[in-house]
Amino acid sequence: TFLSFKHADTLGFSVRGPSGPLVVPLGGSVILPCFVERPLAVEKVKVVWKRTGSETLVHLYQDGESRAEAQHKDYHDRAHFFTDQIQHGNFSLLLENVRAEDKGVYRCKVYSQQLADKTLVEIKDVERLLVSGSDESVSAYDGEDVTLSCSVDSHITPEDMEVSWKKTDEDILLYQNNETFSDSSDERDRDRVEFFTAEIPKGNFSLRLKSVRTEDKGVYMCLVFAGGLSVNTTVVLVQLGFSWLHITALILCIVASGSALLSWLVYSRTGNQGVIFIYFLGEIGFKNAFSYYY
Ligand SMILES: *[C@@H]1O[C@H](CO)[C@@H](O)[C@H](O)[C@H]1NC(C)=O
Ligand SMILES: *[C@@H]1O[C@H](CO)[C@@H](O)[C@H](O)[C@H]1NC(C)=O
Ligand SMILES: *[C@@H]1O[C@H](CO)[C@@H](O)[C@H](O)[C@H]1NC(C)=O
Repeated sequence: TFLSFKHADTLGFSVRGPSGPLVVPLGGSVILPCFVERPLAVEKVKVVWKRTGSETLVHLYQDGESRAEAQHKDYHDRAHFFTDQIQHGNFSLLLENVRAEDKGVYRCKVYSQQLADKTLVEIKDVERLLVSGSDESVSAYDGEDVTLSCSVDSHITPEDMEVSWKKTDEDILLYQNNETFSDSSDERDRDRVEFFTAEIPKGNFSLRLKSVRTEDKGVYMCLVFAGGLSVNTTVVLVQLGFSWLHITALILCIVASGSALLSWLVYSRTGNQGVIFIYFLGEIGFKNAFSYYY
């Protein structure tokens, strides 16, 4: 009857997954999507995430909580369920620190009241695609050259990668697909960005920025697309400007070389005596100059 049809429609639900198989970077993380269009009564929901075949329990949500004790130990710290998303009908699972063995098919089965539905999520490939930059920020003085690191580790060859560099805070593209761009139309600026061409076949896409200026400071991102994946690394460039430290260092250098010259003069006139002391002063001058400079 019309009434019973309506009743079934209210209760029934259909669980959805991703639109296709997933490719995941080794060591990275991935969301295994599982959701319903219309939210279900939260307190009645049970969600079981299993690997098909082995039937390993990846995650269990039951009676309003995640049941870590029931879960296979391989997934203890790696599988995260979003309890706060259940009310939105979202039962996706975040899998972190992905390993090669994670390749396979996962089943998300959702129970609500007397009904259940499921979806399958396939991790088709776990690609080794790691990108590393500089862990710390890079600093440079006005006019200096600076290297922004970007190194890719993958079984995919560098020729099959698409690499781009951009300055994120201003959204300026510096390099894409083997072409350098300039942040200004000024012809002289075009040569400021340089690559280590011989290093590229080794996956080293580090970029050299010449004659750093104040406006160069900011966050730079190296973006790598390969094998359907995208990874990136960022480098923060801190510009120190032309400071009093420069000047101090410069003066100390002059003092140091002056006293070295003086000690040579004293030596050539008097022989050994008196040289040691003046030489010692010269040493202090040099050391200070260095420690101020760096
Ligand atoms: C489910 O929640 C996760 C975590 O907040 C989010 O990344 C994902 O996009 C959500 N999926 C859907 C279909 O809303
Ligand atoms: C990039 O440019 C260099 C020099 O123009 C060329 O030798 C090289 O083959 C190019 N690489 C790619 C991937 O297009
Ligand atoms: C990349 O190449 C530059 C220039 O030769 C070098 O300084 C840097 O150490 C290289 N990076 C790696 C990770 O090999």
